[in-house]
Formats: sequence, C-alpha cells, structure tokens
Amino acid sequence: MQEKIQKLTAEIENLQATAAAEVEALRIKYLSKKGLISALFNDFRQLSVDQKKEIGPVLNKLKDYATERIAALREAAEMADDTTLGIDLTRTATPIKLGTRHPLSLVREEIIDIFRRLGFTIAEGPEIEDDWHVFSALNFAADHPARDMQDTFFIQRNPDVLLRTHTSSVQSRAMVNSQPPIRIICPGRVYRNEAISARAHCFFHQVEALYVDKNVSFADLKQTLLYFAREMFGPDTKIRLRPSYFPFTEPSAEMDISCNLCGGKGCSFCKHTGWVEILGCGMVDPNVLDACGIDSKIYSGFALGMGIERITNLKYQVNDLRLFSENDVRFLEEFKPAH
Ligand code: DAH
Repeated sequence: MQEKIQKLTAEIENLQATAAAEVEALRIKYLSKKGLISALFNDFRQLSVDQKKEIGPVLNKLKDYATERIAALREAAEMADDTTLGIDLTRTATPIKLGTRHPLSLVREEIIDIFRRLGFTIAEGPEIEDDWHVFSALNFAADHPARDMQDTFFIQRNPDVLLRTHTSSVQSRAMVNSQPPIRIICPGRVYRNEAISARAHCFFHQVEALYVDKNVSFADLKQTLLYFAREMFGPDTKIRLRPSYFPFTEPSAEMDISCNLCGGKGCSFCKHTGWVEILGCGMVDPNVLDACGIDSKIYSGFALGMGIERITNLKYQVNDLRLFSENDVRFLEEFKPAH
C-alpha cells in the first residue's frame, strides 16, 4: 500500500495537461469515485487498526495533493484556453492615444518662459472682479466706454460685480498688495460682451506684464519688448512702437513686429505693410501708482498686455478664433509637441 501511494504521488507530480478537457480526464482517473485514489481508500478499509493509523494520514495527504495539483492544472489550462478565445495575455498593450496640449496653452507657456528668464514671476487674480480693480484703479474715467454694458459682462450692479475685461486688473491687485520692486507676469482669461465671429469672441486670453521699481524707464520697456519679440518670433524680428492711448499708461504705445510670414516684405497677412500689431504697452500712469498705494514720486513702472490668441494666430496662422474653443480634435492634433 505504501508503495502504491508513493508511486501515485510521483505520477501526480509529473502530470501534464494543456487543455481543460485533459485536466478533466485526469480528475476522473485519480479523484472520481472509480478513480485510482478511491480504489486505494477501498483497500484501506481492509487494513488492520494499526496499519490504518499508519497509512491513514499518508493516504489523506495523497488525496489532498492530487486535488491541489489538478486544480492548479485546471487554472493553467483555462488561462491557456482564453488565448484561443482571443485574449492573448502576452500581447503588447494597444497604444493609448495621447492627448495634445492646447495651442493657447503652448503659447502661454512660451510667453511665460521668456518673461521668466527676465526675472518676472507669475501673478494671478480672479476672473470675477469689481469695478475698482478693473477700471477705477486703472484710471478709467467714470464715463469711459469700456465700462459700458456693451463691453463688460456685469453680474451685479451696485456694488458692481463683473467679469474682468482685461488682465490689467491683476496689476492693480499686485500693486495694492505689495511694494516695489514688482516684476510680474499675469496670464489669464478675460471676457467681453462681443458677438462671436472669426475675429471676436466673448472670452479670450491675455498676458499682462508689470515692472515697477525706482528708475524704470521707457528704454527698459523697449528692450524688454525687443527681447520678447526675438525670443518669440525669431532673432531677425524687428519691432516698431506707435504712439497710442490707454487710460492706465502714459505715454502709451502699440507694438508691431515685422511680419513673420513675409519677413517684412509685405503680404496679404500683414495687408502689405510688412508689420503686424501684437501688443499694447506704456509707462504706468502715476495716477495708477498713487491709486494703488505706490508713491509715484519715488517709483515708476512699465506695463504691457497682449492677447494670447493673437500671438498664437501669428505663430500658427490660425485665422478663426472660434477654433480655439470648439475642441475639434482634428484641429488640436495639429499641435503635437516636437518632442
Ligand atoms: N489692457 C489692455 C487691453 O485689454 C492691454 C494693455 C495695453 C495692457 C497696454 C497693458 C498696457 O498693460 O500697458 O486691451
């Protein structure tokens, strides 16, 4: 009996089966009522009490071992069977389609990066603002048309709660909250009550820069603008400043860059002038400094503001603003990063 048990144990140890049906045949051979192990149990009954004491545990062990081994073979065979059903566990994973960065985010990061290299840090402010931070602090006269319902989305009147129409509001917040030197860049979304078309949208994005310190001059502004234009549009880019008007800067200017499509020769994009407008800028009006608690007799500053959509249009020739917010993947996929 002992010998038979040993022989069966060795046999079971060497069992092989690749399909579930083969495993079932093995189960019948060893573990069914008419199987080899059951036969041993029948023989067991004939033994003397002493022999039973000796053989009993060994026989039980064999039965457990056979049950375990066959269960393991079944599991392996079932997994292998899955392969034939089309599940191949060794196959490399299906590539997941990776998303792409939104063109406005790409350009915003690029703008921030350039100013960061000049020592500017990011400042943020709320999109839901009050009249003071968006207009009054920035020297807008009480009857300035920009406050008109046509431009501004008012959430509440008296006291005014509104959606900021420009990121210049972050300037006022920064100046109220800290003393110079202030060197900040403020990216963000702005809102204006405009009919949506290829050229206008009710929300868009701006980046504002502000530098306030002792002895900040127009030359500092000009050099910063030149650096920015060359980093953004290439080393051969030229800039041109035209006198302009903004309530919060004096003097104010608008900056053009040499058309990056025709290199300044003149094309339909730059309306054959060789120049395209990209931002507004100027020296912070002393009224603004004083309104925000900064002594305009000691400090001066420059500010500039640009539309991210505008810069993106110039860089990637997107000529319909609506594309930026429609989230059409065919459009977005064109902006795969180079690396
Ligand atoms: N806030 C202006 C706008 O929304 C842009 C601007 C112009 C910002 C001149 C400035 C600036 O800081 O100096 O159109």
